[in-house]
Formats: sequence, C-alpha cells, structure tokens
Amino acid sequence: MSVKALKGFKDIVPGEVETWQYIEKTARDIFHRFDFSEIKVPILEKTKLFVRSIGETTDIVEKEMYTFTDRNGSSLTMRPEGTAPVLRAYIENGLQSKKAVQKLYTIGPMFRHERPQKGRLRQFHQMSVEVLGTDLPRVDAEVVAMAWLIVKELGLTASLEINSLGCKKCRPSFNKALLSFLDQAENLCDDCQRRIKINPLRVLDCKSANCREQYVKAPSILDHICVGCDEHFKSVKEGLGLLGVPYKVNSFMVRGLDYYTRTTFELITGDLGAQSAIGAGGRYDGLVQQLGGPDVPGIGFAMGMERLALLLEQQEQSVPLPAVDIFVAALGETAQKKGFALTHRLRQAGLTVIMDHQDRSLKNQMKQAGRANARYALILGEEELAKGRAVLRNMENREQHDVAVTEDMTGIIMQNVK
Ligand code: HAM
Repeated sequence: MSVKALKGFKDIVPGEVETWQYIEKTARDIFHRFDFSEIKVPILEKTKLFVRSIGETTDIVEKEMYTFTDRNGSSLTMRPEGTAPVLRAYIENGLQSKKAVQKLYTIGPMFRHERPQKGRLRQFHQMSVEVLGTDLPRVDAEVVAMAWLIVKELGLTASLEINSLGCKKCRPSFNKALLSFLDQAENLCDDCQRRIKINPLRVLDCKSANCREQYVKAPSILDHICVGCDEHFKSVKEGLGLLGVPYKVNSFMVRGLDYYTRTTFELITGDLGAQSAIGAGGRYDGLVQQLGGPDVPGIGFAMGMERLALLLEQQEQSVPLPAVDIFVAALGETAQKKGFALTHRLRQAGLTVIMDHQDRSLKNQMKQAGRANARYALILGEEELAKGRAVLRNMENREQHDVAVTEDMTGIIMQNVK
C-alpha cells in the first residue's frame, strides 16, 4: 500500500499553489510598504519557550502541541505559533540594540494537534508580524490597519472585532468580578472548573454550549480596565477612525493565548463555517521580559493562509495567474532546433517562455499557448523559416506580424513583447 500524508497535513499542489503565491506576494508587498523586515526562525524550539509564553492552561499547551523528546533527552516542540520564536530570536540576537522599534514578519508552517476540519489543519501556515519596542496606541491602530489592508487588497470581505484585556494592574479586579459571577454559574465543564482556579479569564474562551450560554451575562472586562488602559483603548479606536478602518468592540473576546494585554483583535468571516477567524492578534507588553529579554512592549498578529485561500475561493475572488510572455510554437525539426535555442536566449534575457518539444500540430500548440495564458505566441513554421521569417501573434487581440529570423532574434522579440 502506498504511504499517505498524515491526517491534517496537506500538499499544496500546482493549481492551488498560485493562490498561495498570490496571498504571500500581496502580504509581503504590504509588509514592506509599512517598513517591516522579514525574519526567519526555526520550526523546532525548546518546549518551555511555548509553555512560558502561550500559557499552561491554554488549549494549545494543554492539548495541541507536537512535543517529543529528542535523542539527547531534551523536550522539543514543533512551533504552534510564531510569536514566541520571533521574540526568542529578538532577545537572542540583541535586536533591540540595533533598532529601538523592530517591525518584523515571518511566514511559514505551524503545528497544532487539533481535530482537522475545513480551515483547520494540523500543519497550517501563518503570516505573522510583531512590532517590538513601542506601546503607542497609534502603533496598535497601524498594525490592525495593516491586517485590514491585506484582507482588502485580496478583495475579501471580513469584519474586525477589537477588545482590551487590560494590564497586570487591572486584570486582578476583573478576575475578582469574574470569579464572583462564576460562583453562581451552574454545571460548568471540567475544563472551566479547572481553569477557574488557575486563570479565570480563560473560561470565556470555552467552546461548550452550556458554559457559553451562561457567560453571555459575565461581567465585561471593559468595565474593569484601569484609567491608563482605558485611555490607551480610546486612542486605538481613535487611530482606527483616522485610518478609516471599521471595527466592532467585542468585550468577550479573550483569545486563545495567555500573553495578551490591552488591545486584542480578530478578523472574522461567516463564510468558513466554524473556523471564523482568518487572522488575529494583540498587544503583549511584558512577554519579552517574561522570556528573559529587556522590558520592551510588543504587538502583532497572524493570518492563517489556508483560511485566506479558502475565503478567496468562497468569495469568488479571482487570483491573477503568473504571466507567461511567449509560447514558442515550432513546426518541424529545423524549427524545433531554432526554437529550442531561442527559448533559452529569451529566458536568459528575462522573459517567461514555454516551448513544447514534441513537435505537435500548430492547432495543438496554439491550444497549449491558450491554456498557459501566454501573452504572445512565436510561430516558427518550416515555410516561413525558409524565407527567414517567423510570426509573432498577440494572443489577446489575435494581431500578428512578421518578424525577421536573425542569428539573434532576442532583441527584436523583446522590443515587441515588453
Ligand atoms: P492564533 O489566533 O492562535 O494567534 O492564530 C492566528 C491565525 O492562525 C488564526 O486566526 C487562524 O487564521 C490561523 N490558525 C490557527 N490555527 C489554525 C489551524 N489549526 N488551521 C488553520 N489555521 C489556523 C497566534 O498564533 C498568535 N501568535 C498571533 C499573534 C502574533 N499575536 C501577536 N502576534
């Protein structure tokens, strides 16, 4: 029996990969417009990096990490998200001393042992960004606006929800109010009963219907945040207003990771069934220091590439195909030889060129050129070639003209095609 891929692990094959390239290209372009630099970090890290940052009572750490002991007896984990590895790299490489504010992005696979379903995989891909070194609310607004712009430039429709989770000064007062509310709640699930004791905020992220129904009446964190957090949140909202980014405040949004403080946000859609978040993030002041680094604040987000690809399909957004400049259609052995050499020269000159080496009929080769979405076809026929001529056909408007076949036709073709 042939060996199949693991459950929740997917190949991205030609026909699909173009969508991925388009998403990545669009995002990279936007990241650079906002002055972000790329950082590449390892897939494998020490387990304690994630336990310390994401939080021991989160679903990710409790149930979803791909953790194993390596041959040296060390506990390692396939990264379930990108923030902790990027922060580790920031600390380890002393990036704070190179630039007061570091704006970083990374793109790559993440691993979570979740139950696979539409839009939820065990190996999935994130485009993840982090801004380290500033807690100015305008930066929060700018980061959220950047995520929003990616969605917009891909032609997608989604909605933006924001919240503030307060800071370590005001969280205890909210926890107290939440605990007294939870005292009255009935038949909470085992997870919630356990979490109440360790991190009460986490219960609001519960998926069980009975718990959720009761939490609708839970106190709102926004009624408990301190003056500093309240002002920060007001300024973030003002910033989003100045940038024309529409949002809704959702005071029940707690996010699935423990490191968040103050601003949190999610980009959500109703078009992907249960997996509604296409991107999410927030501020995590204190996390860099918690991981052994300097006391610098941070904010970031990650977008799920599988979900963006699905949404492009669902919302029927067209994905521009990579352009083919010329299809060289050569008929007969002499023309095939000429075309073979010319194809290589044109590729060296920077054009995207396809040639079929099987000497099929002209009709067949033209069909191939059409399927490849080629802008031009260069037709090298036996008879024309004997007269030192070839035909360059514009595949869009069908106009064609004669070109002279010279020893080096590259120049003349480049002139016509560019
Ligand atoms: P997260 O909310 O866990 O945040 O994930 C961000 C996005 O990754 C989700 O909104 C979703 O689109 C995608 N995603 C998560 N899990 C899966 C999965 N199993 N299958 C497919 N897509 C998935 C983070 O990971 C934070 N590190 C974001 C962040 C960066 N916060 C600050 N900086």
